[in-house]
Amino acid sequence: MKIDIISVVPGLLEGPFAHSILKRAREKGLLEVTVINLRDHTTYARAQVDDYAFGGGAGMVLMIEPLVNAIEALQKETVYDEIIYLTPDGETFNQQTANQLSLKNNLLLICGHYKGIDQRVRDHFITREISIGDYVLSGGELAAAVLVDAIGRLIPGVLNNETSALTDSFQDNLLAPPVYSRPEEFRGWKVPDVLLSGNHKLIDEWRHEQSVKRTEERRPDIME
Ligand code: ADE
Repeated sequence: MKIDIISVVPGLLEGPFAHSILKRAREKGLLEVTVINLRDHTTYARAQVDDYAFGGGAGMVLMIEPLVNAIEALQKETVYDEIIYLTPDGETFNQQTANQLSLKNNLLLICGHYKGIDQRVRDHFITREISIGDYVLSGGELAAAVLVDAIGRLIPGVLNNETSALTDSFQDNLLAPPVYSRPEEFRGWKVPDVLLSGNHKLIDEWRHEQSVKRTEERRPDIME
């Protein structure tokens, strides 16, 4: 999968994909992430990419021309399955959307800043608008990093044990059960006996019960 990201603060995206699972995905050639600096696509003096909003009011707007220049330059090389704008007024991101997007080949993510991007870019280029939650970030970069992480780990072959994404929270509208590791006892706090029993049928049943209990308690809204 190829994910291109247009940003005015590309430095914010240097770290997140250089470690752990996403690093391995890139090294294996399963995921290619490229960050494009919007300022490389402006024809305005001093690499200007933002301007005042028509009609007045506080806050700057990312101008249409640099964005369209950047998008169209990228489209010469790549046919995108989705051009996604990260914005607090988009559809709320969830595991189902991550699953869907992990099946695509080419994604273009656009990070907004300040008051957002010129509406005409949204009207004519954007195919999907996504929010990562009901709060406002200072730009779309951290939201883009969240998307790339959630999507990237679902690409087949990225996780060592492919079944492990299937047992994630939310995959079956249930939260994941509690997990334990060594030692069996610490300060008198014991690992549940069933997990040490070696009986996989009993263990699966226990995990399912725990998932249901946790979901009822914490997230009854996601239960079917
Ligand atoms: N940009 C600013 N806030 C955001 C949010 N909550 N989700 C996605 N993009 C954003």
